[in-house]
Amino acid sequence: MSRDDLISTNAKIVNSVTRSILEHSKSPIIIVVSNPLDVMTYAAFKTAGLPATKVFGMAGILDTARYRAFLAEALQVSPKDIQAVLMGGHGDTMVPLPRYTTVAGIPVTELIDEARLSAIVERTKSGGGELVNLMGTSAWYAPGAAAAQMVEAIVKDENRIFPCCVNLSGQYGLHDTFVGIPVKLGKAGITEMIELKLNADEMKLLHDSSVAVKSVMDVYDGMGL
Ligand code: 2OP
Repeated sequence: MSRDDLISTNAKIVNSVTRSILEHSKSPIIIVVSNPLDVMTYAAFKTAGLPATKVFGMAGILDTARYRAFLAEALQVSPKDIQAVLMGGHGDTMVPLPRYTTVAGIPVTELIDEARLSAIVERTKSGGGELVNLMGTSAWYAPGAAAAQMVEAIVKDENRIFPCCVNLSGQYGLHDTFVGIPVKLGKAGITEMIELKLNADEMKLLHDSSVAVKSVMDVYDGMGL
């Protein structure tokens, strides 16, 4: 499908599902799991008219899981021991953050050289495409497992911290855009948006990612759906 066809087809579905949710629930928490992820989260957010803490998207857990898996493979360690955070849009401009990646508490940069780490960062960015090429369809188990973790954190009021796609209103100097940042999830939905002290390079990558998402948001807005 062309990008515009994908946006239009999926936005119609997302908007109609969102309206149905509102008919059946007075105070829903909506987790969007549809591509293009950041823009479909925007579509659901606009249609629902709910606060940003109640409508958000699943992408960062999936992308971080791939990043952790690739690192685990390279380091010959269990992915369970890798803690990482990844920000930005769900696509080529996503921002894995090696500075915030540890292996059982050890900074990953002490365990792997820069060239191998950047190859893993690049592989993570195209991880969705790699899976689609291998399977001939979108991944389903890992996205499902990631969304289930978010639901569990909400239902059990766990206050877990996950990267999720959210509407930013000033965080990281970004406004009226949707990208992944670390948030705390509990029974009220997002209970905290966490602002990391990014360095200038990381901040630039995040802002570049937001510009890329914004251009697709503009395409969606232009469709008048
Ligand atoms: C994924 O990352 C295609 O967005 C989907 O698996």
